[in-house]
Amino acid sequence: MPAPDDQRPTDLPRHVGIIMDGNGRWAAARSLPRLEGHRRGAERLIEIVDDCIDLGIGTLTVFAFSAENWKRPPEEISGLFKLGEWVLRAHLARLERRGVRLRVIGDLAAMPDFVRRPLEDAIAKTRDFTAFQLVVALNYGARQEIVAAARRLAEDVAAGRQDPAQVDWAALEARLQTAGLPDPDLIIRTSGEHRLSNFLLLQSAYAEIVFASVHWPDFTKDQLRLALAEYAKRERRFGMTPEQLQTPPPA
Ligand code: IPE
Ligand code: IPE
Ligand code: MG
Repeated sequence: MPAPDDQRPTDLPRHVGIIMDGNGRWAAARSLPRLEGHRRGAERLIEIVDDCIDLGIGTLTVFAFSAENWKRPPEEISGLFKLGEWVLRAHLARLERRGVRLRVIGDLAAMPDFVRRPLEDAIAKTRDFTAFQLVVALNYGARQEIVAAARRLAEDVAAGRQDPAQVDWAALEARLQTAGLPDPDLIIRTSGEHRLSNFLLLQSAYAEIVFASVHWPDFTKDQLRLALAEYAKRERRFGMTPEQLQTPPPA
């Protein structure tokens, strides 16, 4: 839960999360295979990362593959993974040049080796970069993340490392995969769907949510600016009254 002094004076979100939805529909509307939509979506992502860096956003988390996306046809899944591996190979040097630290949330261990290994290498290689954080949610589900954190807490309690009476939000948060990242201020979902689909459920407790009607391959820098403008108009209250927000809390 953000303390009042965590609220920034600026209207720019510190951490943006994007549910990159609609690649399949974008392709279907053009009588193209779904994978072509994913390919165009990957190109969009590369440019949006650059745009976020240029705009001064510190952290971007993108939902690339959900724990539930394993339900898709095997050819689509393998096509997506090959595309992801190719994108990383083609753009890692550029990310390094821009000082991007790459992180992954989700069950990376369950991913095929040809995806997992280069990602682990890239994560290690970029560990000390601080200019920008790109967090890829891959084989990620918020419920699965919460279950894993709860299990770790239970193990720590059973081993005597954690007093159950001291279990609080900080104790749970420290065991989430996003430990150390600021909570997302803004979540954007493209393609007109109004749901979170198991993305960052706890971390988004106070996030502003913006729904863009365009499919992800059409989400340009202008669309990003529109979402940021919408965010800047919102009044975040964190449980307080509008009047309280006008008066800074006593030091
Ligand atoms: C988002 O686009 C990419 C992934 C979920 C991997 P979709 O593939 O969900 O596209 P739609 O929603 O079917 O149009
Ligand atoms: C959410 O999109 C996951 C990603 C964008 C990777 P989905 O297309 O899988 O979500 P639902 O099934 O429409 O809720
Ligand atoms: Mg979808």
